[in-house]
Amino acid sequence: MCIGVIDSGIGGLTVLKSLIKNYPNHEYIYFGDTLHIPYGEKNINELKYYTDKIFKFLESKQVDLIIIACGTLSSNIEYLKSNIPLIDIISPLKNKLDNYHSVGIMATPLSIKTNAFQKYIKSKLNLVSCPLLVPLIENRDYQNMDNIIEEYINKIKDSEVILLGCTHYPLIIDYIKKYYDKKIFTLDEFILPKLKNLKETKYNLQLYFSKIDENLRKNVANILNIDDNLIKFGDVF
Ligand code: DGL
Repeated sequence: MCIGVIDSGIGGLTVLKSLIKNYPNHEYIYFGDTLHIPYGEKNINELKYYTDKIFKFLESKQVDLIIIACGTLSSNIEYLKSNIPLIDIISPLKNKLDNYHSVGIMATPLSIKTNAFQKYIKSKLNLVSCPLLVPLIENRDYQNMDNIIEEYINKIKDSEVILLGCTHYPLIIDYIKKYYDKKIFTLDEFILPKLKNLKETKYNLQLYFSKIDENLRKNVANILNIDDNLIKFGDVF
């Protein structure tokens, strides 16, 4: 299968990494919209406009399905239109965390606003909107990360477990663990069963981004440990 994977930036690479590890025999084409990040601060019409262009690009690459490796887009999946089947990463949470008494959720402002998590988790939810994290992660700006994380975690630290509701946040999980020592879930683990019965072929990887700079190159190298020349400019806008 040829699988498209999309996100606003490098966050979806945490999902891609997990997909490749568990299902190595597929062709993966990743698109990170680094030109328009952060999606969590955009409105739905802007996201529709960006994703229309990205879906067309992936269609031209003949992908068989597209994984929406972005919590913010997944929270608004009903607005996204594509000729190719879409798999989002929020709906696979359905009934998976209901046994916990309370679930703390860190996510982007738009994901929190759309109430998407309430649809799939019946437990008591403690939600915290974390607008600062995605830009800091993309810009590799870790200077004030401790203070910021501590402030966000303080709002949800009584939760029995925490779910990182944005695919960027696993990249700073070590900071989060300093302030929360119970179980932390990430979104990528819930999507894996969805790929179980797909026809496997041969591994291949292509990475496209709508804006490329030195920070992006460093981030990709750190996350995937791959050759720099795999990073290509995705000219879709
Ligand atoms: N990785 C995206 C998510 O999971 C980040 C969204 C953003 O760009 O704000 O929500």
